[in-house]
Amino acid sequence: MESRAIRKPVEEGLSRVDGRLKVTGAAKYSAEYNVKGLTYGVMVGSTITRGNIKSIDTKQAEHAPGVFTVITYLNCPNIPGYHIENAPPKGPLKIFIDDKIYFNGQPIALIIADTYERALFAASLVKADYNKEEHQTNLKKNLDAGVLPKNTKDYLRGQEDAYKSAPIKIEQEYILPTEVHNPMELHAIIARWDADDKVTVWDKTQGVKSTQRNIALAFKLPPDNVQVTAPFVGGAFGAALRTWPHEIAAVVAAQVVKRPVKLVLSRADMFTSVGYRPHTWQKVGLGATTDGKLVGITHEASGQTSVYEDFTEGVVNISQLMYASPNVNTRYKLVSLNVNTPTPMRGPGEATGAYALESAMDELSYQLNIDPIELRLRNYAETDPLSGKPYSSKFLKEAYQLGADRIGWNERNQKPGSVTKDGWLVGYGMGAGMFGAYRSNATVTARMMADGTLFLQTAVTDIGPGTGTAMATIGSEVMGIPAGKVRVNLGDSSLPPSPTQGGSQITSTVGAAVYDACMELKDKFKQLNGGADSADYVQLLNKNNLPQLEVTTLSKGGPEMGNYAAYSWSVHFIQVHVNPATGVVKVNKAVSVADAGHIVSPKTAASQIKGGSIMGIGMALMEEAVIDHRYGRLVNNNFADYHMPVQADIPQVEALFVNKPDPHLNPMGAKGMGEIATIGVAAAVANAVYNATGKRIRELPITPDKLI
Ligand code: MOS
Repeated sequence: MESRAIRKPVEEGLSRVDGRLKVTGAAKYSAEYNVKGLTYGVMVGSTITRGNIKSIDTKQAEHAPGVFTVITYLNCPNIPGYHIENAPPKGPLKIFIDDKIYFNGQPIALIIADTYERALFAASLVKADYNKEEHQTNLKKNLDAGVLPKNTKDYLRGQEDAYKSAPIKIEQEYILPTEVHNPMELHAIIARWDADDKVTVWDKTQGVKSTQRNIALAFKLPPDNVQVTAPFVGGAFGAALRTWPHEIAAVVAAQVVKRPVKLVLSRADMFTSVGYRPHTWQKVGLGATTDGKLVGITHEASGQTSVYEDFTEGVVNISQLMYASPNVNTRYKLVSLNVNTPTPMRGPGEATGAYALESAMDELSYQLNIDPIELRLRNYAETDPLSGKPYSSKFLKEAYQLGADRIGWNERNQKPGSVTKDGWLVGYGMGAGMFGAYRSNATVTARMMADGTLFLQTAVTDIGPGTGTAMATIGSEVMGIPAGKVRVNLGDSSLPPSPTQGGSQITSTVGAAVYDACMELKDKFKQLNGGADSADYVQLLNKNNLPQLEVTTLSKGGPEMGNYAAYSWSVHFIQVHVNPATGVVKVNKAVSVADAGHIVSPKTAASQIKGGSIMGIGMALMEEAVIDHRYGRLVNNNFADYHMPVQADIPQVEALFVNKPDPHLNPMGAKGMGEIATIGVAAAVANAVYNATGKRIRELPITPDKLI
């Protein structure tokens, strides 16, 4: 593909097109639709961790004021597309099909009442007796039970465990606890049956088309009879990629009560109903020559999953890809526990893997007494080490330089604990990240109205990165009209199909579709104008007595992408202050640099990178879902006890971009940035803490108790 990159300085850029709606409360989220005749659902969760329900007494709850029904496995209508043969232990959790309990908090009943408060009260009246069986929730105790996931093999390039015979080597274990997405907006769905074979849902989802498909499958409906609406999503980070059991439960409940049902998960439900980043053990061995050339990398990982589904992610992949090492071997195992199934969380796999690899690289740099950036430059991959293919683009060296300059890397001392300020230890750390740069298919309608307004329409949801803003930017630039003249319609399954918002591919995919649609629309105007270019669309429409002119365009990835290895790259720099007496770590400055190709929407891109950096800081210093293994139950399933960064924890975060177009991926030259924003950050923080204190913490989060 010839590069047709749109060039624009980063410091310019459109403000978020939906910003005003969001800050004034005019943006409606799925729980906020005032649907006539609404009823309210509250779920009841299992209080045991493994076994089955001996008896469940719902009488009192059924007779509580305002209650319409209490749904359990005893009375739940048959869900015709539920393939029970694929139910746990063989497949995804299915709601209310039998008495089996696989994890603590698993839904056992759903109350539907005329108000939320009455449903909540009735939920407290449900009594269940269980046959308890012995459960396993402890990853560390069950590492020996790890097995290779189905259809996967160990990876080997060159010689196995070559690091062991290298002159300089390190071998360390790194542990990441379970992290929960915890977007501000709770998962919520309103389901309304419009006819026996027609249903509308307002749903928190990252993909209206996939939710439409999944509800259609479960209830054996034609997909067009399922309307899914999600114009705004209050953060998701992967937690709304799947269609979860509670969504099916709301749809079936609406069938039972013959009225619309609203089901909003509680914050506690969010810890057991919509996935999480799994607790993962890792071991990395690195071997190098005395001048810092990698001889071998060995990376093993074991992540937790449920007993009924294999959740796999690319934890060890980054060690196959990041550096030009001739010898690499990796192994990835899963440990099945009595927990709900994990799900992708921002930078799935790579964020976990980069924590280990980039910590290990830092450890190696101290062994070698080489600057950590210099060590990475000596092992810089000029072509993809996995496939041997050239990169579609890679400007990671430029990113190292930009970030080092901005953080003041030259003030760093390689000797740990040697810099202090006002009684605090000062440390600098860095860590790099990478993630596949993708593009798939999307269809966009571009419609120019006689008043000069351009409508851009596609089904994709904007979960926060600024998809609508990027689309408006591309539309206005291609058509040569002010951005204020562009209206974007998103998050509706009746609009032209788009992929699920995920995998950092939406600007590349949907942006390309906007580009292609607008180019086609311009062509149509050209024909209207007798073959001559004109940007006076209003005049052309009026002259031809047309109310509007529109095109609907399907845009697909270029076939030549197969010749390239395409990745986005990032590097994160962190300066910490550590209190030597209390062990408190303060991130004083964070600089994240992305090679994400041409930056289409500079303002929202910067927000995206800053948000990802903050998420990585949380991963490094705070976040940990804790299970009391005696009961198999989470003890901190709330915002008071599950710590996340707040404004006061995040003093200064800067986002920088190399901003050079990728010549192959799409006409804008853009690559993804949602995942790379987080990948590598946790290692950068841990490395900064080591540089400040000389203490290497290999189990996250780095809480003060671990430093004193
Ligand atoms: Mo993202 S983990 O692809 O929602």
